[in-house]
Amino acid sequence: MAKYVVFDGMDGSGKGTQMKLLEEKFGDSIVFTREPGGTPFAEEIRKIIRDNPLAGKSTALNNFLLFWAAREELQHNLVVPALKVGKHVFSDRGDSSTYAFQIWGEEHKELSHLFNLMRKHVFLERQKPDLYIVFDLPAEVARERAMQDASREKNHFDTRGLAYYKRVRKGFREFAEHMPVEFIDATRSPEKIHRSVLMALAKNMIIPELALVVD
Ligand code: TYD
Repeated sequence: MAKYVVFDGMDGSGKGTQMKLLEEKFGDSIVFTREPGGTPFAEEIRKIIRDNPLAGKSTALNNFLLFWAAREELQHNLVVPALKVGKHVFSDRGDSSTYAFQIWGEEHKELSHLFNLMRKHVFLERQKPDLYIVFDLPAEVARERAMQDASREKNHFDTRGLAYYKRVRKGFREFAEHMPVEFIDATRSPEKIHRSVLMALAKNMIIPELALVVD
């Protein structure tokens, strides 16, 4: 059966590099996508949430709902069809981000109940992610790296203090209390992290054959 895997982590965790290494390794045999985005309409929603300063000035509920709107669109037009034809889907971010960033990072615990409801509806009669791989970093390191990355175009998610990074990390840990999450130590070299990712994919029976290669 085709599997659905979400890759997540704090800004600065090297997630982008890891997604590139996976794409180089697996190519078209796996459908790679991202959140928010991944379909033409969801990419339009992404532009609003991520790049339009008006989104930053709107309410927490509105931003939360826009992430879910993009997610619903991605599920309907990309994830479900791909899984149906037997293709694995690897997504750069997912609902774990909404939980860690909006509910924990931005301290909107009042949205927890709505998070559970949205999750129930969006994944109703659909396949939930089989695994979340979270690139984990101490908050200090994550913030430092995100600040120093000059190649990164800054958006309104990129200018937060240390306490925010700590809350986001805690959010991922809380998420893992109820979901199938593998944490990967992202303080190491890209090669070592990549190897750990492959091992996690083998161990969690996403691509069991990898066990033979990366033991
Ligand atoms: P992006 O530049 O793609 O960041 P990255 O390369 O680190 O993934 O911008 C996406 C931003 O959106 C990122 O800062 C995390 C944030 N985000 C949320 O706050 N909530 C969500 O539900 C999702 C999917 C992303």
